[in-house]
Amino acid sequence: MDQRTKKIETVLAEDRQFHPPEAFSRQAHIPSMEEYAKLYKKSIHNPVSFWESVANELVWFQKWDKALEESEAPFYKWFVNGKTNISYNCLDRHLDSALRNKAAIIWEGEAGDQRTLTYSQLHKQVCRFANVLKKLGIGRGDRVAIYLPMVPELVISTLACARLGAVHSVIFAGFSAEAIRDRVLDCEAKLVITADGGWRRGNILPLKNIVDEAIQDCACVKHIIVVKRGENDPFPCHMKEGRDYWYHDIIDGVSAECAAVPMDSEAMLFLLYTSGTTGKPKGIIHTTGGYMVYTYITAKYVFDLKPQDVYWCTADIGWVTGHSYTVYGPLTNAATVLIYEGAPNWPDKGRFWKMVEEHAVTIFYTAPTAIRSFMKWGDEWPNKYNLSSLRLLGTVGESINPEAWIWYHQTIGKGRCPIVDTWWQTETGGIMLTPLPGATSTKPGSATLPFFGIEAAVLSEEGKEAEAGILAICRPWPGMLRGIYGDSQRYKQTYWSKWPGKYFPGDGAKKDKDGYYWILGRIDDVVNIAGHRIGTAELESVFVEHESVAEAGVIGIDHEIKGQCLVCFISLKEGRQATESLAEELKEWIAKKIGRFAMPEKIIFAADLPKTRSGKIMRRLLRDIASGRALGNVTTLADANVVEQLKKKYEED
Ligand code: WTA
Repeated sequence: MDQRTKKIETVLAEDRQFHPPEAFSRQAHIPSMEEYAKLYKKSIHNPVSFWESVANELVWFQKWDKALEESEAPFYKWFVNGKTNISYNCLDRHLDSALRNKAAIIWEGEAGDQRTLTYSQLHKQVCRFANVLKKLGIGRGDRVAIYLPMVPELVISTLACARLGAVHSVIFAGFSAEAIRDRVLDCEAKLVITADGGWRRGNILPLKNIVDEAIQDCACVKHIIVVKRGENDPFPCHMKEGRDYWYHDIIDGVSAECAAVPMDSEAMLFLLYTSGTTGKPKGIIHTTGGYMVYTYITAKYVFDLKPQDVYWCTADIGWVTGHSYTVYGPLTNAATVLIYEGAPNWPDKGRFWKMVEEHAVTIFYTAPTAIRSFMKWGDEWPNKYNLSSLRLLGTVGESINPEAWIWYHQTIGKGRCPIVDTWWQTETGGIMLTPLPGATSTKPGSATLPFFGIEAAVLSEEGKEAEAGILAICRPWPGMLRGIYGDSQRYKQTYWSKWPGKYFPGDGAKKDKDGYYWILGRIDDVVNIAGHRIGTAELESVFVEHESVAEAGVIGIDHEIKGQCLVCFISLKEGRQATESLAEELKEWIAKKIGRFAMPEKIIFAADLPKTRSGKIMRRLLRDIASGRALGNVTTLADANVVEQLKKKYEED
């Protein structure tokens, strides 16, 4: 049975429903389904007035002329000619009230060291660092690459860029030197912010050394600022005179006053690279006004943020979840955000729950892959700690299997806490399909219903409404991407060409009789490993750069913990030996070229790969082989023997 059919069957069999606990609904921003339906209707019938009233909750230096400009679709514009600054809305907006002394960030390092920054302190830090950036020639529109561990300076850096109108491009600290180089070159970053190290499972990641290697060929980079994080003796940093500065040195004595620059609503706020169906990662563009409004309102309603909450999103800021729901969404809401640097199983498997107890976390947002690991580690770890502060749980990154959902609900939430299963993407900027915790009855495994202003549908290839098919978003929304950096054609082609006027996210979906959405996974060649998007074409092109590899075909198959994992079929050049050590070398090759998180599970050597007569690798057949299914249609194959040989090989391995 094909993986998606299997999923549809599981979904159809799942009919449990969980109603929001009354005590939760009573205090919630959106306390009932009636309220959701009323506001949803309004947001769809009169989107301009809906979005304007949300935008009015934030500070604008100059009001917009028009909420939505559609004349050059799909190059939509939101809050046209409005001027604002998201750093101002995250910080300065809260300084006139008692919020100034509220904790904005509670940070914990892996070794247990802690720092708390109030809104007023964070504001000062951001202003000082923005002045440093200015001194180094960074201003409006300049790109700044950030390659940092999860330390407060990461948040400070993003907000300092935003304050000046510089565009940040955060690169997840698990990416390799080559991946950094590609991203830095693509956006021509002028400056890189990194650290001497970052802690992970008791080890130090030598981040500055990786950056040095990365930027050897990047003439665009004029300066590197280095945060001193590790006691980094194993990897001493080489600081290049005139180019590299220690963060603590260069910020010393710098003024804590720095006015936020009024930015056009459509000015670029950040770039974030993500994988697609071709070899080259895409620089997803988000702009200022719409993204601010969308992350603000989704964070407020989906997480039901209240002044007393301690909110913890475990995602790294290197991914979009960290951008929208550790930095911008919570801070525009004046929330207290917990940030943790290290691994969930360090020094033991109870680390997260110890932190929940110690910091009295009320809202906890994580990924299904993490939940499945917690399940596997055993109930004794969460059961050791007092988790009674928790009132709301969330998940994101992939569909959550009902078994993991129930475990999360019972063992972590003790049956008391609603769960918000939030579907969205790097491209959408914020949460699109989600329960509202005080209103929506949840069904394990379903991301339930669209957020306000989001019109979704399940369509066939031809664009007809279908029960099971492809997810579509039928109109623009403020948080949407505005393009792919340097490639507006690809933007149009990838997202807006499948059906006229509708956004194509690339996910399969099903809608049930209650109108609930069930996401069935990617329908393109993007694999979701532990919540990280990896394009199979990207891996294939990295494989063929290896001197021994002739061709590569990469697919994703189901994995118990990670959701999916990579199986790579490789054919070697003449005279190369298919050995165990070469397989290991190729896995390391991927780790080196992309990052450890993309390491293949399995390498299978084959004399040849199944191809169509026009020479395209037939991934569908590779998937059939890997899942041991009866083979599909092979009549278009160039050499049918190839498949039989491969299948035999896979079964032997
Ligand atoms: C998948 C992460 C099912 C989906 C925010 C999407 C999900 C891709 C869910 C985007 C969910 C994310 N249920 N699938 N709740 N959340 N996905 O860009 O396939 O890293 O297209 O953004 O993750 O991944 P990205």
